[in-house]
Amino acid sequence: MTENWWKESVVYQIYPRSFCDSNHDGIGDIKGIIDKLDYLRQLGIDVIWLCPVYKSPNCDNGYDISDYQNIMDEFGTMKDFDELLYRAHEKGIKIIMDLVVNHTSDEHAWFIESKKKYKNPYHDFYIWREGKNGKEPTNWESWFSGSAWEYCEDRNMYYLHVFAKKQPDLNWDNPVVREEIYKLMRWWCEKGVDGFRMDVISMISKAEQFEDGNVMEGHTYGDLSPYVIHGPHVHEYLKEMNTEVLSRYDLMTVGETAGVTPEEAINYAGFDRRELNMVFHFEHMDLDFGEKGKWNDKPPKLTRLKEVMSRWQNELYDKAWNSLFWNNHDQPRIVSRFGNDKEYWEKSAKMLATCLHMMQGTPYIYQGEEIGMTNIPFTSIEQYRDIESHNAWRDLVENGDFTPEYMLKCLNFKSRDNARTPMQWDDSNFAGFSDCEPWIQVNSNYQKINAASQVNDPDSIFSYYKKLIQLRKEHKIIVYGKYQLIMEESEAVFAYIRFYKNEKLLVLCNFTDKDVLCQIPNEYDLIEKELLIGNYHDSLQDPWKLRSYEAKVFKYTD
Ligand code: NOJ
Repeated sequence: MTENWWKESVVYQIYPRSFCDSNHDGIGDIKGIIDKLDYLRQLGIDVIWLCPVYKSPNCDNGYDISDYQNIMDEFGTMKDFDELLYRAHEKGIKIIMDLVVNHTSDEHAWFIESKKKYKNPYHDFYIWREGKNGKEPTNWESWFSGSAWEYCEDRNMYYLHVFAKKQPDLNWDNPVVREEIYKLMRWWCEKGVDGFRMDVISMISKAEQFEDGNVMEGHTYGDLSPYVIHGPHVHEYLKEMNTEVLSRYDLMTVGETAGVTPEEAINYAGFDRRELNMVFHFEHMDLDFGEKGKWNDKPPKLTRLKEVMSRWQNELYDKAWNSLFWNNHDQPRIVSRFGNDKEYWEKSAKMLATCLHMMQGTPYIYQGEEIGMTNIPFTSIEQYRDIESHNAWRDLVENGDFTPEYMLKCLNFKSRDNARTPMQWDDSNFAGFSDCEPWIQVNSNYQKINAASQVNDPDSIFSYYKKLIQLRKEHKIIVYGKYQLIMEESEAVFAYIRFYKNEKLLVLCNFTDKDVLCQIPNEYDLIEKELLIGNYHDSLQDPWKLRSYEAKVFKYTD
């Protein structure tokens, strides 16, 4: 397999709004990130994925862009950005930008022109349709609840918005739109950025015919997914983007591709496809969905998680590259989701990290994950800031599907705001994130869980992540080795082996608070092994026994 820097890198995702506030307004900013570059260097990461910092009215915290070549006032200036890029590069850290080009903000100059009554060059920049019998063109439901169509009086037409109504979808079938996007991408590349994380890139090509979607039980609107995901021209457009932009620079690219299967992922990111380097799939994140989609309060069975993770490891092997993540700004905190954020907080955070970081693919760490940050138990909808959570509350509670108590339970378990509370830097007021009231409440556990108490403690979750990152740099088997699941049927243990040249790794992770005995193929008992990492001391004493949330990794060399 060809070796590439982006296969060997570990990425750290920054959600700037919640990372570090340098100018006393309760909102994180670019200068705040610059202040923390040494912390990131200490952790050992190679690449920052910077969530959107472009000009935006912030209906969806920057995922609604009104100017792609300017910086959001709250985050600073372009001069600050240039300094961040320069300083990060100086420290050997690359930066990939979040590229949100499936849609813009409705306050983008293109949309302001597009919605005008009289024909102009921007009229076809978005997806406009006539109404049907005085109603929306189709019954589609937006991913943020409600209809996916919004009426515009001036044009007497509807425009499509897969997400919020302030996020109109661009019309990628218009070649002028595509050229404008490539132009702005080249502009960022010329600045020296190192790549792009492409927001909902699997949605840029829409179906040729729009028809009503299936109305699933309990839903008012129809499912738009078949009309907007993996559309007929998506690969043609990505290949064009590759020719026009990506192939001209040494970049790392990762596409956010909701609804993707491994087979389709190979189309997007196959080694011979000339499209993207890798994609994010969400199969493992969708396992705890319930009847009302993501709004649920129960974790999935371990065997289902193992099946999904293993299928991706196996099916992409030698054909395409995996991205590995437990967290991002849209997902609740993993230690509260698949771990135990109470008695076994530290052990389970380390176990989850081991389980993911020993797999093949590029690992992504989301800010705060490296110190074991947890979900936040808000007690009222008013404390939430996220548009998706508010829209869902309106739909499910105000329509009487869920009681407020149950919906709060679901939000506590799944809301995106769990990931968006301020980074916990120390035990001072507002967790050292800011010196004034932040835009969203700080988790009250910041006195126990914070970076300052962990960076110099060799037993901390931070130090454990640091070690996992180092190991990846020292052992090619972690990056390139082939994967094989063992103990398939176990509902307690996630165990797998990696193979590379004359080496093997045996990874054992207990997902429960009970002791378990592993069933290991005989040969692993007989040959000499080296313990690479473990989250308990004395892990070698009784090698096949796993205590509560224990993880250990053995290395064998022929
Ligand atoms: C996916 C992003 O990760 C999410 O935060 C955003 O709301 C939607 N795309 C719309 O841009």
